Amino acid sequence: MKKIVVLNWKMNPPSLKEAHILFKIIKKIRPPFEIIIAPPFIYLEKARELFKDKVKLAAQNVFWHNRFFMTGEISPKMLKLMGVDYAIVGHSERRTHLNESLSQINLKIKACLLNNIVPILCIGEKERKKGERTDFYLKKIIFDQLNEAFKGIKLEKRKSIIIAYEPVWAIGKGVSDDPLEAEKVINLIRFWLERRFVNYIADSLPILYGGSVKSNNLKQFLSLKSINGVLVGSASTNKKELTKILNFKL
Ligand code: PGA
Repeated sequence: MKKIVVLNWKMNPPSLKEAHILFKIIKKIRPPFEIIIAPPFIYLEKARELFKDKVKLAAQNVFWHNRFFMTGEISPKMLKLMGVDYAIVGHSERRTHLNESLSQINLKIKACLLNNIVPILCIGEKERKKGERTDFYLKKIIFDQLNEAFKGIKLEKRKSIIIAYEPVWAIGKGVSDDPLEAEKVINLIRFWLERRFVNYIADSLPILYGGSVKSNNLKQFLSLKSINGVLVGSASTNKKELTKILNFKL
């Protein structure tokens, strides 16, 4: 499976002019992995116009209905019509600051699947308890999140969802998880998927790592076989970092 790098721009850059500079950097370089750009909603149309169908686009959020009176939300159908094929769902920043719940996340996943959008589901523990990383504590948190997020969901198509394992304590902190520790959790997620879905579906779902990935630790994550890619936040809107990331050689 080709490695995947999701560029999650969060609420950056502040203007379309600056977004355009980042788009131009992306347009110039052909990295050895698949890129999915997740800019703010208001830059998506420009990105689609500029890249045509050459680069995959993701929304950073999505609502769970196509027809509803819901001020401030964007429907899956609107995204699809704009040529957006992915949507980040359940990012920890939304869970923490906007109280987004796992049942809402579950609805968003269902809405994405109904509208042919691949959800990029973010899961991860809030804190690291020393010495207990892969034991009962962590396993329970991860499996509980997966159980809730996937409640009532049947997957029929390969690659219909991407999971990003993002330990919350590593997001935006400048210090990532140890790649080998992250790999253990990713193996746990794969184990859960294999029990929940038929093999050909479970094996096809990409599992990424996210949390303080930068040009200087990218290789450590991408060289691990069980990690199918990374989700890069802050580093992806820094021109120098973005250029280094895209010039990465596997
Ligand atoms: P970060 O963000 O790379 O800035 O830690 C990751 C994310 O968006 O989840």
